[in-house]
Amino acid sequence: MRIAMIGTGYVGLVSGVCFSEFGFDVVCADKDPAKIAALERGEVPIFEPGLDDLMARNAQRLSFTTDIAGAVGSADVVFIAVGTPSRRGDGEADLTYVHAAAREVAQAMRPGTVVVIKSTVVVGTTRQVGAIIAEAAPDKDFSVAANPEFLREGSAIEDFMRPDRVVVGVEDANAEAVLRQVYRPLYLRETPIVVTSLENAEITKYAANAFLAAKITFINEIADLCEITGGDVQDIARAIGLDNRIGGKFLHPGPGYGGSCFPKDTRAIAALARRLGAPLQLIETTIAVNEARIGGLADRIVAEAGGTVAGKTIAVLGIAFKPNTDDVREAASLTVIPALQAAGAAIRAHDPEAAEAAEPELPGVTWCADAYDAAQGADILVILTEWNTYRAMDMERLGEAMSGRVIIDMRNVYRLDDMRGKGLRYVSVGRSTIDN
Ligand code: NAD
Ligand code: UGA
Repeated sequence: MRIAMIGTGYVGLVSGVCFSEFGFDVVCADKDPAKIAALERGEVPIFEPGLDDLMARNAQRLSFTTDIAGAVGSADVVFIAVGTPSRRGDGEADLTYVHAAAREVAQAMRPGTVVVIKSTVVVGTTRQVGAIIAEAAPDKDFSVAANPEFLREGSAIEDFMRPDRVVVGVEDANAEAVLRQVYRPLYLRETPIVVTSLENAEITKYAANAFLAAKITFINEIADLCEITGGDVQDIARAIGLDNRIGGKFLHPGPGYGGSCFPKDTRAIAALARRLGAPLQLIETTIAVNEARIGGLADRIVAEAGGTVAGKTIAVLGIAFKPNTDDVREAASLTVIPALQAAGAAIRAHDPEAAEAAEPELPGVTWCADAYDAAQGADILVILTEWNTYRAMDMERLGEAMSGRVIIDMRNVYRLDDMRGKGLRYVSVGRSTIDN
């Protein structure tokens, strides 16, 4: 079986490479010639741990092209994994890229092709894609399917190769049989395959992301309560998470969720539901609370600076929205840094992988070689993303490099006990401040 993957971004490329690891021949097509040229040279255009090795190992089964028609015409199964960003103005999912890809697929596909939507799409889209293809290619028989992806950036390969489940929305036996075959290597590992309707598969994806976004937002609010009451959110998260009905994952408090998916997907499902007259109040509130949290971060830093950051230097460690990715889409850093600059602060920043992607978005920032370089002359140091390289920093060295002594750890990277007696003021999330 030959697979074509349309769109070679974070999801398309990882999925394509993982399918080749399963043993399939995969052609990855993208309309971005620079991306394809890099891939043809064997370079991975994104930072995703392990992806370069996996791609090199499967080079014989993988090819890359800008010739979408050629890729589609040679395949039995075509996955569409193009972007579905927030539409300007109303926050609904912008389906332009999916629709355009569907039209291109229709022209070039062979009869009997299974067209699978892997992009995150709102309910009704896969059926709509079917209609677009049927209109453009009335003489060809084909199937459509919805196969949402649940991988996370930074652990994408592990998530793809060992998922908790695979969700497959189909409405004919051929599509089901083909997708079962595609995921057969996982089936052998007893991965549950949920076969359901097109609409259920589409809603499942948004429900999963919205639930996780709400879970993070919940613990963030509990963290706020802890800060006022002298509680410790780490202990509370652990204690509630040990209840199997709650579960310990996604209970890490922080600056507020960001990234290319939770913000846009919560906005999209909320906007759609509002338009349909069935508003999702919990999700609307999650969005508002999260936006307020990220929007309020700069004020928190200003308060720690004694009420003003004008003329002060702030070191920011971690610019990507999470560790192990170079993705800065809707990262908290993109809100907090401009706000601090507007209030008169100079920013010294470091990120192990995302500096290049962030640079055009964050003018005026001084990019530093490492955490200690960023700390040089800083009044306050903020840990915004929990990269491993920030987990065992030499506090004495940091303190010496800084001109001030405040560390704001928005990811609770350090244990409170480890921060006692360091001569620093250590502020974290949902825990007591250590001032010594
Ligand atoms: P991305 O922006 O990284 O990549 C999308 C790619 O599609 C780009 O390279 C673009 O050039 C290409 N493209 C657009 N239109 C095309 C066309 N007509 N033909 C060929 N190529 C085309 O996006 P992403 O982060 O990989 O996300 C893709 C989809 O997967 C989205 O719907 C997203 O919500 C979903 N998703 C993303 C993640 C994630 O971790 N990033 C996880 C699960 C699901
Ligand atoms: C998320 C989902 O976890 C994936 O299942 C989904 O496939 C993907 O969105 C998507 O639809 O694109 P991702 O955005 O890559 O994956 O990363 P997450 O690990 O979920 O983190 C998202 C944001 O939440 C980050 O800003 C992260 O720092 C934050 N987060 C996460 C917390 O603040 N606390 C947590 O406990 C977990």
